[in-house]
Amino acid sequence: MEKQSIKVGLLGLGTVGAGVMKILKMNEEQITRRAGMPVEVKKILVRSLEKERPIKVDASLLTTDPEDILQDPEIDVVVEVMGGVEQTRRYIEKALQNKKFVITANKDLMATAGSELLLLAREHGRNIYYEASVGGGIPLVRPLKHSLGANRIWRIMGIINGTTNYILTQMNLQDMDFEEALKEAQLKGFAEPDPSNDLEGLDAAYKLCILAGLSFNSRVRIDDLHIEGINSVDRRDIFYARELGFSIKLLAIGEELDEGVALRVHPTLIPTTHPLAGVFFENNALYVVGDAVGEVMFFGPGAGAMPTGSSVIADLIEVARNLSHHVENGIMEMDFQEKAILPMEELSSAFYLRLHAKDQPGVFASLATAFGDEKVSLDMIIQKRSDEGLAEIVLVTHAVEEKYFNRALGRIQRFPTIKEINSVFRVIEN
Ligand SMILES: NC(=O)c1ccc[n+]([C@@H]2O[C@H](COP(=O)([O-])OP(=O)(O)OC[C@H]3O[C@@H](n4cnc5c(N)ncnc54)[C@H](OP(=O)(O)O)[C@@H]3O)[C@@H](O)[C@H]2O)c1
Repeated sequence: MEKQSIKVGLLGLGTVGAGVMKILKMNEEQITRRAGMPVEVKKILVRSLEKERPIKVDASLLTTDPEDILQDPEIDVVVEVMGGVEQTRRYIEKALQNKKFVITANKDLMATAGSELLLLAREHGRNIYYEASVGGGIPLVRPLKHSLGANRIWRIMGIINGTTNYILTQMNLQDMDFEEALKEAQLKGFAEPDPSNDLEGLDAAYKLCILAGLSFNSRVRIDDLHIEGINSVDRRDIFYARELGFSIKLLAIGEELDEGVALRVHPTLIPTTHPLAGVFFENNALYVVGDAVGEVMFFGPGAGAMPTGSSVIADLIEVARNLSHHVENGIMEMDFQEKAILPMEELSSAFYLRLHAKDQPGVFASLATAFGDEKVSLDMIIQKRSDEGLAEIVLVTHAVEEKYFNRALGRIQRFPTIKEINSVFRVIEN
C-alpha cells in the first residue's frame, strides 16, 4: 500500500525546531507536492512542557519522553535539532536500530561520530542526512556529495563561522576593536554569551571535519586539525592588511596534496580581490576547487532558524521521495578512507609578521639576513615610527615551508633590537 504521509518525530523545539515547524506550515502545499506526500510531525521532544515558546504548537504533540518517538513504529524519520553529543548519539543510534531515517543539524555529533553513525545506518538499511549541520541554509553537503561528485577536489576554503566573520567585518569596516565588535555581535544575537568555541576556531573546525570528509572521501577527526582562533587579531593588523591589499578572515582550509591531506583553521590574509574577501558580517561561504569544475563558491546565511530549517526540510523532502519511490538509502558516503594528515611544518604559505623593534640603523638588515639564511624571501615591508624610540615593522614573505619561517622567527625573537613580536598570520596569495 502506498504511504499516505511521512511521519516525523522532532527532537527539540528551540531555534531550529521552531524554524522547521514554521516553514512546514508556511510552505505546506509546496512541500507536500515536492515530498510526494504530506509531512506530519507526530511528536516533539522537549525538556520542559511548561516553557513559553515563540511558536504555537498543539500541546498534545509535546513530550519529555524520548521513547515516545524512538519506539513509535509509525514514525518514519527522526529530526534531531536538540544539540549535544553523548545522549543525542544514543537517541540517534536507537532511532536507526528501530529503522528510522535520521536528519540532524548537529555538527558536533557528525564531526565526532558521523562515520560510525553512517555505518550503523547502513547496517539497518537506513541513512543519516545532515545538510543543516554545516553552513546553515547554504547547500554544502548535497553539492559536495552529489553535484560535484565527478571531481577530485583539491582545496576547500570556508568562512564557516558567522560570529567571527561578523567581528572581523566590524573591525575592518567600522574600525572597531575586538572587544567592541564582540559586544555588538552579542547584542545582535550573532555571538553566544560564552563565545569561546567560536572565537577559538573550534566551531569552524567541527564543520571543516564534515566538509573535508565529504570533499576528500577521508575520515577526519578533530585532532587532525591545526586550530587557531581570532583572539590574536588586532585592529592594527586589520589596518595594515588593508594597506597591503588584504582582508583578514578566519578560514577553514582543507587541501588534498600528493602526500596527504592538510586541514587547518586560522586567521588568514586573503587578497581583497578574492571572492571570500567580499563575504561580510554573519554570512558564510565555501570556496571549492575541483579538477573538472574549476572554482565554485557557495554563499549565504550560515545559521538562524529559517535558513537552518530550510536545509532540514530539504533533507526531509529527500527522505520522503526516497520512501515513495521505495529507495531505501539514497546515496551514502561510505568510502571514507584513512589518509595521511600532513603536519603544519611541511605546508607552504606566505606569512604576515608585525613586530616592534628599536628604531636604529641595522635592524632591517638583520631581519633580512635572518630570513635569507632560512631561505625565506620577503615580498612587502612597511615601517612606521612608533612611541619611545620604537618602530613598528610589518613584513609579508613569499610562500615558504613553515619550518623555515619558524626557524627564522626563532632567530629574530632572540635579537636584542626586537622588542616584541605582535602578530604572525598566514597569507593566501591568490
Ligand atoms: N541555531 C542555529 O542557528 C543553528 C544553525 C545550525 C545548526 N544548529 C544546530 O542545531 C541544533 C539545535 O540548535 P538550536 O539553536 O535550535 O538549540 P536550542 O534553541 O537550544 O534548542 C534545543 C531544543 O532541544 C531541546 N532539548 C535540548 N536538550 C534536550 C534533552 N536532553 N531532552 C529533551 N529536549 C532537549 C530543548 O528543549 P526546551 O525547549 O524544553 O529547553 C530545545 O527545545 C544544535 O545541534 C545546533 O548546533 C543550530
